[in-house]
Amino acid sequence: MGKQWVIAIDGPSGSGKSTCAKLLAKKLGLLYIDTGAMYRALGLWAKEKSVPFEDNTQIQEFLNTIDLRYGVSEEVLIQIDGKDLTKRIREHEVSKLASIISQIPCVREFLVDFQRTLATTKVCVMEGRDIGSVVFPNAFCKFFITTAPEERARRRLEELKEKGESELTLEKIIKDIEERDASDRNRAHSPLIQTEDAVLVENGKSLDQTLLTLIDITKKKAIDAEINL
Ligand code: DC
Repeated sequence: MGKQWVIAIDGPSGSGKSTCAKLLAKKLGLLYIDTGAMYRALGLWAKEKSVPFEDNTQIQEFLNTIDLRYGVSEEVLIQIDGKDLTKRIREHEVSKLASIISQIPCVREFLVDFQRTLATTKVCVMEGRDIGSVVFPNAFCKFFITTAPEERARRRLEELKEKGESELTLEKIIKDIEERDASDRNRAHSPLIQTEDAVLVENGKSLDQTLLTLIDITKKKAIDAEINL
C-alpha cells in the first residue's frame, strides 16, 4: 500500500499540537482537520439530547441519526443537526464529556470512518490522539508532540481566561490535565501512543522553532514519499 496523503499529528491535550497543526497546514496550504473537535461535539450533543453515555444501544442510535458536519465555513468548524457548536465545544466542561465519549468503541468507529472520508480530497494535516496509530497508520508523515505538564496547564489557563472562565486555578487545571492524559493513555480502545515511525517533537518555549522543525521534516518526508505538497 502506498503512503497515505496525511500529516498525522498526535499528542496529549494542551501540548500545543493544535496550534502547530493549524500553522503547519496554513504554511503549506493544506487542509487542517481537528479530530478532538469531533469528540467534543459528540459529547456535548449527546449530553444535550440526554443520551446516557453508558447505554451502547442508545449511543449507537444517536450516531445513526445525527447529521455531523465539519468545516462548514470559515466560522463554522463543527455543526450537528444544523446547530453550530464551534464555540461551545471549547468550554471546560465539554473536555470531560469528550474524554468520556471518546472511550466508547462505536463512537470511535463512527468518527474514524468520518475522518477517513474527510481526508480523501487533498493532502491534510490531521491532529488527534490516534491519527498515526489507527486512522491513518500509513500516513507519509507522523509527529508526536509533547510539552511539560506545567507549561500545558499554563497555556490552558491563559486560554480559559481569554474566554472569561478564569475561576479555575493552575492546580485544578494540572489535575484535570493529568486525569485526562491518564484516561487517554490507558483506555482500552485506541489509547494515546507514539507509534515507532512518528517523529517526537518537544514543543518548548519557541513555537517558531517547533514550526520550522515540522515544516522541514514534512518536506523531506513528502519528497521520500513522492508526494507533491
Ligand atoms: O484534543 P482535544 O482536547 O480537543 O480532545 C478532546 C478529547 O477527545 C480528549 O479527551 C481526547 C479525545 N480524542 C480522542 O480520543 N481521539 C482523537 N483523535 C481526538 C481526541
